[in-house]
Order: sequence, then C-alpha cells, then structure tokens
Amino acid sequence: MSAPSYSIPGTATAAPSAAAAPTAQAGISAAEAARTVAEVLQQTQVEAVLAELDTELVGLAPVKTRIRDIAALLVIDKLRANLGLATQMPSLHMCFTGNPGTGKTTVALRMAQILHRLGFVRRGHVVSVTRDDLVGQFIGHTAPKTKEVLKKAMGGVLFIDEAYYLYKPENERDYGQEAIEILLQVMENHRDDLVVILAGYKDRMATFFKSNPGMSSRIAHHIDFPDYEVDELLLIAQQMLAAQNYTMGEGLSELLRQYLQLRRNQPHFANARSVRNALDRARLRQASRLYAERERVLTREDLSTLSPEDLRASRVFSTDSAS
Ligand SMILES: Nc1ncnc2c1ncn2[C@@H]1O[C@H](COP(=O)(O)OP(=O)(O)OP(=O)(O)O)[C@@H](O)[C@H]1O
Ligand SMILES: [Mg+2]
Repeated sequence: MSAPSYSIPGTATAAPSAAAAPTAQAGISAAEAARTVAEVLQQTQVEAVLAELDTELVGLAPVKTRIRDIAALLVIDKLRANLGLATQMPSLHMCFTGNPGTGKTTVALRMAQILHRLGFVRRGHVVSVTRDDLVGQFIGHTAPKTKEVLKKAMGGVLFIDEAYYLYKPENERDYGQEAIEILLQVMENHRDDLVVILAGYKDRMATFFKSNPGMSSRIAHHIDFPDYEVDELLLIAQQMLAAQNYTMGEGLSELLRQYLQLRRNQPHFANARSVRNALDRARLRQASRLYAERERVLTREDLSTLSPEDLRASRVFSTDSAS
C-alpha cells in the first residue's frame, strides 16, 4: 500500500539517506575526530547523563541496562561514521511500557539528552502528547494537527503517551488512523531528525502492535518498566524528601512502609507518582499542624521534619480493604 507523501512544513523532506552518519551538530563536531569510546564519551559528555540517570532514579536496573546498551550502540555508530563506515542511520524509535508512575517520562527526557549529545537529533527536546493533541474531531482536522505536533517535535523526541488510543477498531471511520499513517511516514522519512517514543500499558500496547504491524516494525527498542517494590518506593520517598530539605521524623519511615503496602493494593496506585502525592499531602498536614501553634518559635528541625501524624491522617489507613 503506498500512502501519499506527507511533508512537514519547515523541514526538508529528506529520504532516509544512505550516507546517514548522524547529522553533525554544532558543538559536537569535535567528536567527529574521535577514534576511541573514551574520546566520544568525553567530548559528548554522555557519561554524565548516564550517571545522572543512575543517581536520579531508584531501582530500574533492567531499564538502565537497556539505556546503556542503546548509548553503546550510538557511540560505536559514531566511531564507525568517523571512519566512513556508517551505512544506515540506526532506527531509534522506541516503546516504553509500564504502569503509571514507573519513570517512563523521566527516562524519555534523559534519552533525548543522550541522543542530542551524540548528535542523533538536533535539539534534544521532548514534545509529549496524547491522542487529543494529534487527532481532530472533524474531517480534515487531523492531518494539520498531527503535522503541527510533528513540526514542534522535529530535532527531538516525540513522546506519545497511551499511544494505543490512536487506534479505535470499533469505529471504522476513526480519525486516529489518519494520524497513525502520517506518523508512520514521518518515522521513516525523518528518522535522522526525529525519534518517536510510544508509551503505555504493556498489554494494550501489545494489542495495538498486533493490529498495526507497520508501527510495530518501526520500533527498534522495547523497554519495559516494572512496578516498584515497597523498599524501592521507600527509597524514592527518602530521595524526594531530601531534595526538598525535609526529613522523616521518628517512626515515619515505618508508617510510610505500611501506607505503601496498603496503597499498592488500592485503585489508581501510580508507583512513584503516588509516593510524591502522599508526601505532598503530608507536607500540607505538617504546615497546618505548625500553623496552629501561633506563638511557638519554629526551629529548623520543626520546619523540616515530617512526623508520623502527618501521614496517619491519610484516608489510606481508614479504607482498610481495596474496593
Ligand atoms: N525510580 C525512580 N526514582 C525516583 N523518582 C522516580 C522514579 N520513577 C519515577 N520517579 C518520580 O515519579 C514521578 C513520576 O514519574 P514519571 O512521570 O517519569 O512516570 P511515568 O511512567 O511517565 O508515569 P505516567 O505513566 O503516569 O505518566 C516523577 O516525579 C519522577 O521523578
Ligand atoms: Mg509520564
């Protein structure tokens, strides 16, 4: 099936070029002369991004390994290009599967930085969208919407959250199909300047790929984000609090563990995002608690300590079973 060719305003419609050394970028041209992995890493500072990913994110060992593997591929590709060996722009479109709050967006931002530093995309920004940003309500509205988004994303990463909503088989005239077709074309023709990352629940994504083999075949890297264990969620909480200059008062850590064990089995649990929300609410309660003591001099410790009572008031402890 040959689809019409879509061009994105403001970009050259370059066919995937056979020369396909990653397009040279200002600022990384020094890396052009590199002959060793160490030289590429030093000149592009990619190692710094990988290190940041390691420290910023608790757990996620398999994800971190996959990102390092992809970085290795890109670095070697660069060295090959420097020696005139490159034959084809590597396919870099990815799929991140996992439940809400498992770090997909955060990793996408880092991935964009890596791609940028190694010169695989010009700008390294991330444009994050869902179906509503791409698909119109009326005939003729979808193509301009999708193209506008693509134009914004050129030179960086287009992150499509819950990508499977683009495909609605129960409605045969659904405009989502039009967006998919434009995306497919651009993922092929502009792959030297745009990386698409599809994200969402694993099972729904698998169904989507089954019905959209064209999309499936364009995705080179599938990365699965597992749910966090309670111990990891606790570490994430500690890290989030430390970053905001809060500490856990005596007994809070143990109570938070109980909280997380309960919360995990309740509806709408969203991993690290739920941790962040729980801490935000605990800070609100701490503030009200301190606010009530009008005349007391509040010390540094008072102001930076969350105590168990700030968490115990949570509804999570009153709804003892998940409905
Ligand atoms: N492993 C982790 N360590 C520390 N913080 C984390 C970790 N994973 C996620 N977070 C934090 O949790 C929040 C949610 O993460 P993020 O937005 O990356 O998840 P997501 O998978 O994209 O979620 P959603 O599917 O809901 O969009 C962010 O504030 C992020 O910093
Ligand atoms: Mg997200």
